[in-house]
Amino acid sequence: MLTDKFGRQITDLRVSVTDRCNFRCIYCRASEPENYQPPEHLLSWPELERLCGILGRLGLRKIRVTGGEPLVRPGVEEFIARLAALGLYDDIAITTNGYTLAEKAPTLKAAGLNRVNVSLDSLRPERFDRITRTRGALKRVLAGIEAAQAGGLDPVKVNAVIVRGFNDDEISDFARFARHRGLVMRFIEFMPLDADHIWDRTRVVPAAEMRRGLEAAGLPLEELPRHYASETALRYRFADGGPGEIGLVAPVSEPFCGKCSRIRLTADGKIRTCLFSQFDHDLRGLLRAGAPESEVTAEVERIVEMKEDGHHINDPDFVPPNRTMVFIGG
Ligand code: GTP
Ligand code: 5AD
Ligand code: SF4
Repeated sequence: MLTDKFGRQITDLRVSVTDRCNFRCIYCRASEPENYQPPEHLLSWPELERLCGILGRLGLRKIRVTGGEPLVRPGVEEFIARLAALGLYDDIAITTNGYTLAEKAPTLKAAGLNRVNVSLDSLRPERFDRITRTRGALKRVLAGIEAAQAGGLDPVKVNAVIVRGFNDDEISDFARFARHRGLVMRFIEFMPLDADHIWDRTRVVPAAEMRRGLEAAGLPLEELPRHYASETALRYRFADGGPGEIGLVAPVSEPFCGKCSRIRLTADGKIRTCLFSQFDHDLRGLLRAGAPESEVTAEVERIVEMKEDGHHINDPDFVPPNRTMVFIGG
């Protein structure tokens, strides 16, 4: 089992398979085109599979495929199938913007994907366009969510990053959407990971304020136990026992770093020990130099020793990380 110097067991791997995305969300990417990594910098599918095998043998048990937008990289379904064939991971999930999910859900399920988290930041078409800086995509994302539910990618979790002044007036609409569709709706506090640096504290809607807003809208909640200690979301059900579930992801107002079990592998083969790391650790060089598994394993153990205690967003001297979300993976 991989354990860091604070005694946290590292069991969750989040693998970004591309730095590309077909959306340009205001809380994530730059309004102007960024430079993508040249293709030769990205790990090939066999390289990714080899690393996921090594990390699985080191004790990682959950794997989440992210991006950029993971479904834009051709071959992602086969990659999921290869991950499943490794037989090392108890849970294989994906985080997607849902744009191509309606057509891909059945193949992903057949490949061995267990479940999917879909980003959805507004239920209003014009506003959805404005937040994603993409035209007419809401319908497709809603169809993707439906197809995932129908296809047994269960549970479907829907993620909305709440940014004050953009979508904070939609929280109760989202909660009703969750009840109506019987899904898990999660509200995420905006973090300083956006390329345009629009983040500031006034744009963060604290989880406690969201809870009060739901109560005021006639949707009181009851807390549910966490599934596991390092879960990102505080879980709630509707007090009247209605269908659906609410999750509040509160990294800014109620940080959960003390229980963090996550490391990330970026599409260009770097390990990030924290979303907010100031630097990352290269594995691509080792891999391409033909290092044996024992050497890669030793390097990962050395890297995990350097995992940060937490994000320090609330410190006066906080410095944003050296990569924005699209280059880390959600
Ligand atoms: P489940 O396994 O389904 O509970 O997934 P998850 O919540 O780990 O995954 P998801 O990708 O849906 O994460 C939701 C959001 O939580 C992300 O988009 C981030 O905004 C935030 N998040 C995820 N992991 C971390 C983390 O390690 N640190 C912080 N600060 N935020 C995180
Ligand atoms: N703050 C919080 N979450 C973010 N994400 C992207 N950028 C941010 C941010 N600045 C998350 C969203 C998205 C996932 C891929 O990453 O939840 O759904
Ligand atoms: Fe883990 Fe860093 Fe996220 Fe905190 S901010 S939960 S330490 S990845």
